[in-house]
Amino acid sequence: MNNSNIPVIAVDGPSASGKGTVAQLVADALGFSYLDSGALYRVVAFAAKQDDIAWSDAEAVATCAKTLDIQFKNDQVYLNGNDISEQIRTEEMGQGASQVAVHAPLRAALVDLQHHFRKAPGLVADGRDMGTVIFPDAELKIFLTASTPTRAERRYKQLIGKSLPANYDDILLDLQERDARDKGRASAPLMMAADAMLLETDHLTITEAVNTILKNYEHKKLNKKS
Ligand code: CDP
Repeated sequence: MNNSNIPVIAVDGPSASGKGTVAQLVADALGFSYLDSGALYRVVAFAAKQDDIAWSDAEAVATCAKTLDIQFKNDQVYLNGNDISEQIRTEEMGQGASQVAVHAPLRAALVDLQHHFRKAPGLVADGRDMGTVIFPDAELKIFLTASTPTRAERRYKQLIGKSLPANYDDILLDLQERDARDKGRASAPLMMAADAMLLETDHLTITEAVNTILKNYEHKKLNKKS
């Protein structure tokens, strides 16, 4: 399938940087599809746990991933026909996702699935390696980040908003642990692509972040035409 002419906006960055919300709003504004690649790793962690597969077992986790039927429909995530959207959003599955995501065989097993999201008129892809590994030819690459305390506070408010248990200090530690694992792994580590634009969101509202991305995308398109 040659879909390399379909534009991709890659939004990468660390946990709780707000990239999910921002990327989804950018996709909505442009009428593009949206890929939440982190959800894929969460689904794999969930399925592995169901099948009693240790998150540390690289080969077993990758083999398990190849058997899964993962569907995204109307903002919900389905595994083998069952809606598991809520179950994969727990902190436990966030931890699990971060642990299975270090395995190169698993990352390789998920590449084609991610490429299939590239459909006209365009795609906004959110993750850790969208601009570096999965869509290196993306039209626009954004590295969206914020300081660790800001991100911990955002995650805290998100959990409280959903009436889920939340402890700020635990969240801060968890984020630091996940950042270290994401940046330190050998396979597709979290890093800013050389041609990405850095967007620090400590002092930006969601709307400001979305508008900055949309403006930069328009610039890219205009430059391409001229
Ligand atoms: O919500 P949060 O940003 O914490 O996580 P997420 O985007 O749902 O991703 C869960 C985990 O999957 C992350 O901690 C990463 O370790 C991993 N991940 C990855 O390795 N590569 C991606 N493209 C997306 C997520």
